[in-house]
Amino acid sequence: MSFRSVFVAVVIGFALILSAFLINRARPRVETSQPTADFVRASGKCAECHARLQYSVVHEYEMSAHARKGVNCLDCHQPAPGQQKKDHHGFVIATHLTAGNCRACHETIYQEFLRSRHAAPAWAAIYGEQGLTPEQVAFSEQYQPGGTRRPPHPFVKAEGASAMISGCEQCHSIGKPNDDGTIGTCTDCHSRHTSSVELARLPSTCGQCHMGPDHSQMEIYNESKHGVMFAAQRNILNLQAPPDTLTTRDMFVPTCATCHMSGIDGLKVTHDPSDRLSWFLASAISTKRPNYYRAQAAMKQVCEQCHTAATVDRVYEQAEQVILTTNARVQHAQDIVNKLHADGSLQGPPFSNPIDFLYFDMWHYDGRTAKHAAFMGGADFVQWHGNYPMLQKTVELEHMAAQLRGQHGGE
Ligand code: HEC
Ligand code: HEC
Ligand code: HEC
Ligand code: HEC
Ligand code: HEC
Ligand code: HEC
Ligand code: HEC
Ligand code: HEC
Repeated sequence: MSFRSVFVAVVIGFALILSAFLINRARPRVETSQPTADFVRASGKCAECHARLQYSVVHEYEMSAHARKGVNCLDCHQPAPGQQKKDHHGFVIATHLTAGNCRACHETIYQEFLRSRHAAPAWAAIYGEQGLTPEQVAFSEQYQPGGTRRPPHPFVKAEGASAMISGCEQCHSIGKPNDDGTIGTCTDCHSRHTSSVELARLPSTCGQCHMGPDHSQMEIYNESKHGVMFAAQRNILNLQAPPDTLTTRDMFVPTCATCHMSGIDGLKVTHDPSDRLSWFLASAISTKRPNYYRAQAAMKQVCEQCHTAATVDRVYEQAEQVILTTNARVQHAQDIVNKLHADGSLQGPPFSNPIDFLYFDMWHYDGRTAKHAAFMGGADFVQWHGNYPMLQKTVELEHMAAQLRGQHGGE
């Protein structure tokens, strides 16, 4: 072998090593710091194209706990059992991802979520049992009696499909039955690629759905002392603290998640936000939940990480008084409407007379708002968006009822 060919071989060899190094250096950080062959194969390939196509997707993923722990694109995007497959640039990916793509690694959390009202009952609130299997209905009924075994909501017929799909479903699909047999989605709270606990702990994340006159939790929180303190001190809270070691040193002001889900100071984290609720506040007439005592004790234990028992008991006693007076007001209104039906003064299907709307708004907007606000520190909502409109509507209902009876021939 001549010196010339040895020299050329060395130069080519060196050039190859150098270019490999340069190419490697240009690749995303996660890819190079995660040396497993599978990881490089899957994430490297996906990220290579998608960083050019949708930079935000790859960037959010790179910042996530998943990237740090070596969970790659394909780990989520590969078809889970029962999912439709699709060939995609040399890979096989699922056409649509669901909670089924998370449960492989987070099964316990999925099971907790499945028992909650965020699962099947949220869907059934619109469509009843439609789309759910008998097994799914039976399973959910064990934990949330009456939540799933019920007819579709009257608005499905009254307002039609486009209103359901772009309206109700956008919030209630948190518990949508998926084609693969799983229920719901985890990404409403964690997003697709940040997979973040910080995001899930922000009030605005829950407030995507928990807002508006029929469930004003977001507005109530914003006006409460808790919401005000959160806005002021948000930057010094440790919103990223790991859930299993979260303390009031990290979160000294509560958000929705703190009270309804987190396990501060060693309490149990839960993906079932009904776990600490003692009343059915969303009902027209509120009743105690079957697990009233246990659930109330669990919530009070959360409050007592930051307050004395005396403060907490006072809030509960006052709020339970609001439930009792609201129940009485709604009952009075309900009796008026029922009597009109009974004596024939009011006829036709649900929501076909103005008085139906007046009664509905009274319990569904004002009554609920008063009750929710009493527990969550929203004085203005107890009064001006709660009791005051209830009083006004009671007067209107009584007048309307008298008129209807007059038109119908009087008593
Ligand atoms: C050679 C480039 C390339 C590679 C490699 C690649 N993708 Fe894509 N991907 C695309 C393009 C282009 C689109 C948009 C149109 C399409 O579906 O081809 C896309 C679309 C997608 C979509 C949306 C699909 C849909 O139907 O809306 C997902 C999800 C996706 N890619 C995930 C991945 C994952 C995960 C990997 C790695 C396992 C990957 N991609 C690898 C180029 C690529
Ligand atoms: C934690 C699981 C997870 C990981 C990891 C993950 N994805 Fe996704 N990705 C999702 C989910 C969930 C969706 C929503 C899919 C759907 O609605 O069917 C999605 C959607 C997408 C889409 C479609 C976006 C759109 O809005 O149309 C692309 C493209 C995509 N992912 C690419 C990637 C790439 C590339 C990687 C790796 C760099 C990656 N994903 C890693 C869960 C993940
Ligand atoms: C291949 C397994 C795997 C899959 C699939 C997976 N995860 Fe994860 N996930 C992990 C691991 C590992 C961690 C890190 C746990 C730790 O740090 O102790 C994690 C952490 C998380 C965290 C906590 C992040 C943090 O900042 O502490 C969230 C939230 C999360 N995953 C949500 C999801 C969601 C939503 C999906 C589906 C779209 C999903 N995961 C799919 C393995 C997975
Ligand atoms: C902005 C998001 C959003 C939209 C849009 C929405 N809902 Fe809701 N809905 C919620 C939330 C959040 C609750 C929980 C309220 C609570 O517990 O205080 C709820 C509660 C309910 C309940 C009472 C709980 C139950 O299981 O019986 C019913 C019924 C209901 N919604 C039906 C509907 C119907 C039907 C539509 C469309 C006509 C609709 N919702 C539109 C977010 C929404
Ligand atoms: C995508 C919409 C959506 C998001 C985001 C969401 N929820 Fe809900 N939530 C609902 C719906 C819909 C219901 C009503 C379920 C039912 O009873 O039919 C509900 C019900 C609830 C309930 C009442 C459960 C019961 O037993 O009555 C609580 C408490 C709750 N959510 C807390 C939260 C918290 C805390 C967050 C944020 C960490 C959150 N939700 C995020 C849609 C959402
Ligand atoms: C209603 C909003 C909501 C939904 C839906 C939701 N999560 Fe979470 N998740 C949270 C909150 C809030 C936390 C943080 C609790 C805390 O403050 O410690 C969390 C924490 C987590 C963690 C970290 C837990 C730990 O102990 O380290 C994982 C993993 C996770 N969620 C996965 C999932 C999966 C998988 C699903 C779907 C089956 C899901 N989440 C659905 C709100 C949600
Ligand atoms: C300081 C603790 C605390 C905070 C913060 C908080 N809540 Fe609540 N929440 C409660 C209590 C207490 C109740 C009533 C519990 C009961 O029924 O025993 C309640 C009731 C509810 C209900 C009513 C469920 C039903 O029966 O209809 C929903 C939904 C809800 N909260 C969601 C939220 C959302 C969303 C946020 C944030 C925007 C939030 N909460 C903030 C403590 C809190
Ligand atoms: C993580 C800590 C934390 C948790 C949990 C918490 N709070 Fe608070 N709360 C605060 C802070 C901080 C303030 C503002 C105190 C001030 O004005 O200095 C506050 C203020 C209040 C106030 C107004 C001040 C007062 O004493 O009258 C009430 C009422 C209240 N909280 C009730 C509750 C109830 C009820 C719960 C449980 C459902 C609860 N809090 C859970 C931290 C918390």
